[in-house]
Amino acid sequence: MIVQLDQLYVDAMKRRYIVGAFNVFNYDSLCAVLEAAEEEQSPVILQVSMGARKYVPDFRQFIEVMKIAALSVSVPVGINHDHCPTAEAAMQAVDAGVGGVMFDGSHLSFEENVRFTREVVEYAHARGVCVEAELGRLPGFEDEIFAEHVEFTNPDAAKRFVVLTGCDSLAVSAGTSHGGVKAAENLPLHMEVLERIQAELPGFPLVLHGAASLPLHLIEYVNEQGGRVEVMKNCSESSIRRSAEYGVCKANMDVDNFLAFTGAVRRVLREQPDKYDPRVYLKQGKDAWKEEVMWKMSQVTGSSGH
Ligand code: G3H
Ligand code: 13P
Ligand code: ZN
Ligand code: NA
Repeated sequence: MIVQLDQLYVDAMKRRYIVGAFNVFNYDSLCAVLEAAEEEQSPVILQVSMGARKYVPDFRQFIEVMKIAALSVSVPVGINHDHCPTAEAAMQAVDAGVGGVMFDGSHLSFEENVRFTREVVEYAHARGVCVEAELGRLPGFEDEIFAEHVEFTNPDAAKRFVVLTGCDSLAVSAGTSHGGVKAAENLPLHMEVLERIQAELPGFPLVLHGAASLPLHLIEYVNEQGGRVEVMKNCSESSIRRSAEYGVCKANMDVDNFLAFTGAVRRVLREQPDKYDPRVYLKQGKDAWKEEVMWKMSQVTGSSGH
């Protein structure tokens, strides 16, 4: 069933779990996430990104497919558009029928971020759509550009930002990174930053982007099957789990699903080089994606059974 995102946050906040948000871009990834949610009896947020918008032939049609698929599961499903770099892109997402949209003005000045976020909020709220905004900067890849600059979210600014914009949830920077970074150890997730933001915004839903943990075993698995993926680090799964205690209601995690899918596909292609029916390896990839999402729900977000 399809539900509003703010409804998902109310329950998550009350019962101290996180709703996982997973980007999908085709029928297999869409079904993998929904089947995982159904099996785990977990609420979930399906997302499309600007990348997915470029990937699928018809973005509006894909949103319709997501909605039809979401109707067939018994658990609550939110439908969100991830990172929109402009107000225009966010408004197009609203027009396409999503239940929530993220406007990412984190690269702008505070004033400009407020101005464009407000514009999106006015447009979206008039149409019953929730808005996620972002303040602070995460390192890592966004739209194929690597940003090294990290800037943790300032708690006072976060409060002012939420009051000025009327956004429904806020993505914050407290240690996670998009796609991970080159490092020897996992990155610390700064609970004290989250705690200070929560103190300024009690009960307000916070979002963690870049919440995939890039576990070594997933990267090694891909590489054992002939891949050459560089080892990258991010915040650990246990630290993401703990962030629910500090107001985090939504966590975006994609890279781990991508690794799981790629490892499984590579394995079939390596072990069964005589196979050329794409369904043989795509099925394995999809099942690995689903397993990974089930792992996140049961072990990382704590959303299973909610
Ligand atoms: O932050 C993550 C991005 O929304 C993922 O976008 O589908 O273009 O890789 P992508
Ligand atoms: P990861 O790069 O950790 O998968 O994060 C995804 C994300 O933040 C999507 O918006
Ligand atoms: Zn993100
Ligand atoms: Na990440």
